[in-house]
Amino acid sequence: MPLVAPSLLAADFLHLADACKMVNESEADWFHLDVMDGNFVPNISYGQPVIEFINKAATKTLDVHLMVQQPERYAEDFKKAGADVLSVHYEACTHLHRNVQQIKSLGMKAGVALNPHTPVDLLEDIIGDLDLVLIMSVNPGFGGQKFIERSLEKISTLRRMIDDAKLSTLIEVDGGVTIENAPALVQAGVDVLVAGSTVFRAEDPFAAIKALKAAK
Ligand code: DX5
Ligand code: ZN
Repeated sequence: MPLVAPSLLAADFLHLADACKMVNESEADWFHLDVMDGNFVPNISYGQPVIEFINKAATKTLDVHLMVQQPERYAEDFKKAGADVLSVHYEACTHLHRNVQQIKSLGMKAGVALNPHTPVDLLEDIIGDLDLVLIMSVNPGFGGQKFIERSLEKISTLRRMIDDAKLSTLIEVDGGVTIENAPALVQAGVDVLVAGSTVFRAEDPFAAIKALKAAK
């Protein structure tokens, strides 16, 4: 059974407390929180102050996805804001190894996110240090985009890499995840399904989360 992480990017920001309550009461496992700097990605979302408030309302793991340049500048702030898992982009880090160690030394789980064009092979020398790899299945920056099919092959390759090395690193997929493509993603080896529109644009978000959890 996959873990399901609704992305609050697709929620009504005027009623974040309701969105948090819904996720708390649902079968979802994590909150997925997208931080965008308007530089690494062409969009600006929200940052530490908002996450601090989400942390007060949320009763589940906070999975923070940093789409920012030089994320090492903010790791400590996100720890203080309540992040449990902190993912940085491979493409945004000159010293990825140092950044991963920084995240872990602050007491968070460390994740690395890969853009659609970045091959998973590039993680060979760091995979053993990672708690999670986030495969972007759309170009980061916006919710509601179409799933890039090639991501399925990347997930299978990464699954093999992790299993061959006998690691417990989680594979998370983010972007264009639907109730329809969730089974193929789970079969390819995904552990965590992120879903924004599929959950928050659904008539019944609880049912959407339930259907994602049931993917096999
Ligand atoms: C996109 C974000 C995603 C986004 C997914 O850059 O990283 O987490 O919220 O939205 P959907 O599920 O609508 O593609
Ligand atoms: Zn995300």
